[in-house]
Amino acid sequence: MTIIFIVMTARFYFPFLLCLVAACSTRQSEINPVYLDFSAPLEDRVEDALSRMTLEEKVSILHAQSKFSSAGVQRLGIPDISCSDGPNGVRQEVLWDDWHHAGWTNDSCVAFPTLTALAATWDRELAGQYGKALGEEARFREKNIILGPGVNIFRTPLCGRNFEYMGEDPYLASQLVVPYIRNVQKNGVSACVKHFCLNNEETYRNQTDVYVSDRALHEIYLPVFKAAVKDAGTWSLMTSYNKYEGDYTSHSHKLLSEILKEEWGFDGVVVSDWGSIHDTEAAVKAGMDMEFGTSGSYSDYYLADPYLAGLEEGKFDMNELDDKCRRVLRLIFRTAMNPERPFGSLCSDEHYETARKVGAAGIVLLKNNGGLLPVRKDVHRIAVIGENALKKMTIGGGAASLKVQHEISILQGIKDRAGDDVEVIYARGYVGSPTTYQDGILVGTELIDERSADELTAEAIQVAASADIVIFVGGMNKDGGQDCEGFDRPSIDLLYGQNELIHALAEANPNIVVALVSGNAVSMPWIDTVPSVLQTWYLGSEAGHAFADVLFGDVNPSGKLPFTFPKQLGDSPAHYAGKAFPNPDRNDYAEGIYVGYRWYEKKDIQPLFAFGHGLSYTEFEYGQAKVSRATIRKKGSLQIRVPVTNIGKTAGSEVVQLYISDVECSLDRPEKELKGFEKVYLLPGETKTVTFNISEDLLQYYDDTAGTWVSEPGEFEAKIAAASDDIRRTVRFFLK
Ligand code: BGC
Repeated sequence: MTIIFIVMTARFYFPFLLCLVAACSTRQSEINPVYLDFSAPLEDRVEDALSRMTLEEKVSILHAQSKFSSAGVQRLGIPDISCSDGPNGVRQEVLWDDWHHAGWTNDSCVAFPTLTALAATWDRELAGQYGKALGEEARFREKNIILGPGVNIFRTPLCGRNFEYMGEDPYLASQLVVPYIRNVQKNGVSACVKHFCLNNEETYRNQTDVYVSDRALHEIYLPVFKAAVKDAGTWSLMTSYNKYEGDYTSHSHKLLSEILKEEWGFDGVVVSDWGSIHDTEAAVKAGMDMEFGTSGSYSDYYLADPYLAGLEEGKFDMNELDDKCRRVLRLIFRTAMNPERPFGSLCSDEHYETARKVGAAGIVLLKNNGGLLPVRKDVHRIAVIGENALKKMTIGGGAASLKVQHEISILQGIKDRAGDDVEVIYARGYVGSPTTYQDGILVGTELIDERSADELTAEAIQVAASADIVIFVGGMNKDGGQDCEGFDRPSIDLLYGQNELIHALAEANPNIVVALVSGNAVSMPWIDTVPSVLQTWYLGSEAGHAFADVLFGDVNPSGKLPFTFPKQLGDSPAHYAGKAFPNPDRNDYAEGIYVGYRWYEKKDIQPLFAFGHGLSYTEFEYGQAKVSRATIRKKGSLQIRVPVTNIGKTAGSEVVQLYISDVECSLDRPEKELKGFEKVYLLPGETKTVTFNISEDLLQYYDDTAGTWVSEPGEFEAKIAAASDDIRRTVRFFLK
């Protein structure tokens, strides 16, 4: 009886008890909502925040509210997202609704070397330090997203934005992009890998419609993005301006939903490039999450009022909307509402040190006949000639233009290092770009010089002839058409009469070093007349110091080219057989997977300088390579060990490269492909053994009929090399 009474009573009171518990917990979650409980799992916080948002609030977080920010939810205390360019430094603040400099005085940054220079280091550790420093600067400047890294593959030397990217090889770029992104994000700042994808030319970037085989897409153009998503865990990604198979990439369901989100499991935010969305329905359905633009009428953006109206009319799915919002909330909780993120720092000594180290490690010594470099101790008069020795290169180039706290010019760097008993004399030689102002920011020295080309040349020859050594510093300058967003280069040749000038200088003084400041390959009709050539990239705030470090031998050059320098434009895959370039229409990538060295090797075209090439002030000897076993089984791996010895008198680093060739294969494959590299530092006489792990996945190709990666049993060759055209050891093995 008692038992029956208890059961009956409990049944009667149970609903009331439930209500009480619910009321308490509601009150509890009102006081301390789950989304504000920093110890709660991320996804619980996201769901809780989402459940509290109105339809209008949901749509309002999906588009810009200013040039570089999007709204949070004020009512819920969810902060805005603030973003900034770019890949190699945190851009100056611009006005809310206008691209002009906001005039702040606390927004100067450290410019790090542009990404071609980072790629040329072939150094994962440095890529990590770079990401850490950049992330700290972005964090200090209260950014939640830094719009980089840029990772589009170098397909043509005319692409105006190559200098912002990481070269022609998907493996090299992937290996460096991962530590970069991870370390940026350790600061609670999201990386935003860009531009997804096939943005390989600029002039008609809003029109060009790329058609490329699935195999080339997966083997060449997507791997870096895939590494950014799957290995680095990037929290955001930016689409590109161009079209792919008839659709803008921002409207491509195949790219955004099928590949990026479903196949790779991307849980972050797909951000549009500024103004790259052209239709609400196409963008919503393809998988765009957030829209930025160039105009100020933010409520008219495709993912703003037009999307809201469509949702209200029942034209769009609410679950689709929620998925987009979850992604944005996740990003906010990972960044702005992440209580554990550090505070960051700006313009610290450590950041300058990183910029200088990366710069010096990225410089590539292309040629050094007779050991002209490093500058010898008995040199007492150095002639520095050329505009780029003076010109500050951190401005220009478009979105990557920066306002820096300081920039050491190359001339200044040489003077700082040369010492009192060495006279450094300068002549302009040519006038290229006297621009000293960009985005309202004044940089550096007055560069206007109205003398005629003949007068400038005559002066330069006289100065060159009077010196022990001549350092010509030329190249490009980030003006439109000279390494700049929105413009492709008109030609592969150096402009402003530089080729003629170099010839004349080499005649006046054979001890000449040509240093090229550029992020692209240039033709070198004078190559046989000059003993030494340095590829120096855009080195950022510490350019002059990094340059002098290598010039005087304080740092032994160890950079290797991240892309091929062709002898002439017509040799390169995008221009071979007179293909249209730039291309406003249907743009067939007929070369398929044969991009960069893969192309030159297939066609047996001798490049000017091969991928992976770079000299040192010392020499390295490669010993016998040993393979740990003769066969790899499916999902297995083997190791290759090779001893490398510094046989010179100077300490230095060597980038030991591993290329793989598929000897027996049922389809056409490149002669070889980069699948490993290690950078080793060796004292004179020192030997270190480099170990490469070859796992089965490194042997795969993409089978576009089956839509999957395949490795075919058979024989393979591992080529241990100092450059793609300098194979030192070969070992064979089998895949069973
Ligand atoms: C560029 C992006 C850049 C964005 C914001 C676009 O024009 O293509 O790389 O991040 O502008 O400045």
